[in-house]
Amino acid sequence: MAKTRILFLSEENESISFLEDVLSSVNGYETRLCAEAEKAVDAFRHFSPEITVVNLDRDFSDSLLHTLRDISPAARFLGFGIHVANLPKSRSEIFNTLLSRDALRLRFMTEVSMLKQQSDLLSQINAALKKIVGKSPQVKALYDSIFKAIRSKGATVLIQGESGVGKELVAKAIASVSNHLISVNCSAISENLFESELFGHARGAFTGAITERKGLFEAANGGVLYLDEVGDIPLAMQAKLLRALQEGEIRPVGSSETKKVKVQIVAATNHDLQKESEKGTFRKDLFYRLNVIPIYVPTLRERKEDIPELVEHFIQEFALFPDFKPEISPETMQALIRYDWPGNIRELENAIHRAIVLMNGNELTIENIFPAKENLSKVPQVAHRDWTGIHYAEFQELQKQEERDYIIAKIHENDGSIKKTAESFGMQRPALYARAARIGLDLKTLH
Ligand SMILES: Nc1ncnc2c1ncn2[C@@H]1O[C@H](COP(=O)(O)OP(=O)(O)OP(=O)(O)O)[C@@H](O)[C@H]1O
Ligand SMILES: [Mg+2]
Repeated sequence: MAKTRILFLSEENESISFLEDVLSSVNGYETRLCAEAEKAVDAFRHFSPEITVVNLDRDFSDSLLHTLRDISPAARFLGFGIHVANLPKSRSEIFNTLLSRDALRLRFMTEVSMLKQQSDLLSQINAALKKIVGKSPQVKALYDSIFKAIRSKGATVLIQGESGVGKELVAKAIASVSNHLISVNCSAISENLFESELFGHARGAFTGAITERKGLFEAANGGVLYLDEVGDIPLAMQAKLLRALQEGEIRPVGSSETKKVKVQIVAATNHDLQKESEKGTFRKDLFYRLNVIPIYVPTLRERKEDIPELVEHFIQEFALFPDFKPEISPETMQALIRYDWPGNIRELENAIHRAIVLMNGNELTIENIFPAKENLSKVPQVAHRDWTGIHYAEFQELQKQEERDYIIAKIHENDGSIKKTAESFGMQRPALYARAARIGLDLKTLH
């Protein structure tokens, strides 16, 4: 098993050698000491500690500690010192645990083992979040909602969003902590089998029920049950699902006994359940019961700044040989950014996959990506827009969208450098930030 790495930011002193002695008396820890603030970032990057122990009576600035936190968000920080009780809030917030010098000897090991558990858990969650590619504010908000759902320890989550936006990836990230996910596509179960699929059945419950069978709720006990396409559950079955959610127990078909189950329900749909519950095609009470933690997964056209990174990600994923990296010209990338992707990320993923299979040479062309003429014709050509029937307000919005797409494409051409992009426009960097903000693009998220 890999050892837990602990970095001490402190000079060598009696407390530190004591802590190192305590750690070395137990297996499984590796320690390192860094006494100089100027070397801390390098030491942190190379050693990549799970836990950093900071001597607060020494000169390690808040900004240095913030930098370290940003390098590895899963790392945990323990501070110790003489005056921990009187630290300003801005400083105490940096730490996950603070110990006075007196408490250090008594509580160090307990705190370290708790921090280790937290760090393992966070690494697991971060690994799942990494699969959700993107740096746009919308993706950051999605990460926050996923954390909320995990922290809620079992509250029901309703994921809504168009087809292909990544709802299942979100459900997997929520389940990453318990590592136990059972998925069911509700639209694929026929109405008469629904109850026994979900809640199981007793022996002899109906013709063909030769043995007792556990349902999906029981199979997911202690973990997450992902109810995909929850909007397609027949009305009669919605009442039964609601009862199971409210009571936290199920009754297998043909059985007189109920069973307690502890399951976090994560439901997903591309219907607008609020509207459907108002129309009466989906039960209102079930909608409220599911919608405890609502998560909206944005469409790809709402976060076009993520397109270049997603394209690179899928090129990596589908490149046929590890050392062969298909190229993509700036013009092609611009066209991909202009296109609206009605099938969202799944459409983009399939398009890149197909293009890699179809390509000749080592360049992905727009014809490889959109082999069907009708799709190619949907890629807006800047020069040939038809203005008939377009009002001025709409024109202004289109103009902003065009400029956003243009800036995103240019930043990609400049390898993600805002500075170089601004220079290529003959602007200073702050001016480009300001211009982008005026047209609704947050450049801070793009590097
Ligand atoms: N942010 C993302 N980063 C990388 N891959 C993604 C991302 N979002 C979605 N994908 C990929 O796109 C495909 C579609 O995602 P997913 O199946 O989660 O969508 P969905 O919202 O459940 O779609 P549907 O409503 O059709 O079931 C998957 O292959 C998934 O891995
Ligand atoms: Mg899905």
